[in-house]
Amino acid sequence: MLPQAPDDTDRLYLDNAATSFPKAPGVYEAMLDYGRRIGASPGRGAYAESRQGSAVILRCRERLARLLDAETPDRIVFTLNTTDALNTAIQGLVAHHRRTRPGAPIRIITSAMDHNSVLRPLNMLRRDGVSWCALPADPATGLIDPADFARAINPETALVALVHASNVTGCIQPIDHVGRLCREQGVPFLVDAAQSLGHVPINVRECGIDLLAFPGHKGLLGPLGTGGLYIRPGVEGLIDPYRQGGTGSQSEQDTHPDVMPSRYECGSHNTVGIAGLSRAVEWILEHGVASLRAHETELINAMLAGLEGLAPLGYRLIGSAPSTCRVATFSVTHDTISPHELAMEMERRDGLLVRAGIHCAPRAHETMGTIDRGGGARISFGAFNTLEHVHRTLACLEAIGRDLAIPVRSAAR
Ligand SMILES: Cc1ncc(COP(=O)(O)O)c(C=O)c1O
Repeated sequence: MLPQAPDDTDRLYLDNAATSFPKAPGVYEAMLDYGRRIGASPGRGAYAESRQGSAVILRCRERLARLLDAETPDRIVFTLNTTDALNTAIQGLVAHHRRTRPGAPIRIITSAMDHNSVLRPLNMLRRDGVSWCALPADPATGLIDPADFARAINPETALVALVHASNVTGCIQPIDHVGRLCREQGVPFLVDAAQSLGHVPINVRECGIDLLAFPGHKGLLGPLGTGGLYIRPGVEGLIDPYRQGGTGSQSEQDTHPDVMPSRYECGSHNTVGIAGLSRAVEWILEHGVASLRAHETELINAMLAGLEGLAPLGYRLIGSAPSTCRVATFSVTHDTISPHELAMEMERRDGLLVRAGIHCAPRAHETMGTIDRGGGARISFGAFNTLEHVHRTLACLEAIGRDLAIPVRSAAR
């Protein structure tokens, strides 16, 4: 008889790499409070509620600046998500080059582990004469070799863009090393921290980061629809803003203000979302990313040990980076069923919610040899998952693996 589907309360969300769930304590309350009690658009009026809204936004910038060790809060630009932040940086840098050095070649370096939110803008820009290359990663671990970056940088290099933690293998790239190289060569360095901020400590100054794109809605445990871009002082001189509009400031001018962060922010803010994000970042600062990382490391170690034991049942973990070099994102394949079938079976049997497929990272799956198998089934744990959740996941995989093994054994007899 087939196992019964669990009832709704037994469902376990394991897709924190897409967006974290649940969010940090107090996030939903902060959003509701803003919506119900304040409501106004910041910077749009001199009345108290609009000023309160501006204070909410400033407090969130201050907290984010503290988290990243950014120079000042105005270095943090709010965006819709990581993709929006990456586009602001990449498209703005190319526009600046074109405007200030017409006809000069523009070359951008990224890695094979990067996400479509970098690869697709670069491919669109290629049609307009921008050249770019994706440096390879080790097919066993998914890690890049900084020496490849050192060799690839040349006088035409306008930008190095590198994903910090892979959303496929979970491996963490050595951004401090690449950051140092870029600083030595005078090349701007853009980090995609979609899968790392909130999971591992990031100090933008120590890592030589010029631009850091991040989501508010993943590891920072804030709501969907939030994100940001850190811009090192002076680097805004290399990034043209690619949209203009109302800012609520300098309204007598019909040209967009040049000051940070308004230079890159226009239109009404997602203030309800930012109120939630602010509470989430406050919670993260209270707990410390190092202690969240210590908890995540326990989950990673348990998961790595468990998956190793499941190898005889036909499972393969995509990417073998050790726990010191990875976040708690694991993509697995099975010898006899597709990633989609595996993910569906995990939900049907045990209410485990995981994401199957290519995860918007086609070159990462090409590198890891999983593109032709339809990618992997990605299990991504978050700050509120426990060892019990890891054991439940492993038990589910084991049960599926055992059931799949039975017909194979009887056929062999
Ligand atoms: C590595 C990486 N970069 C960028 C993104 C895009 O993030 P967002 O959904 O915040 O735009 C993701 C989303 O999963 C990601 O995993």
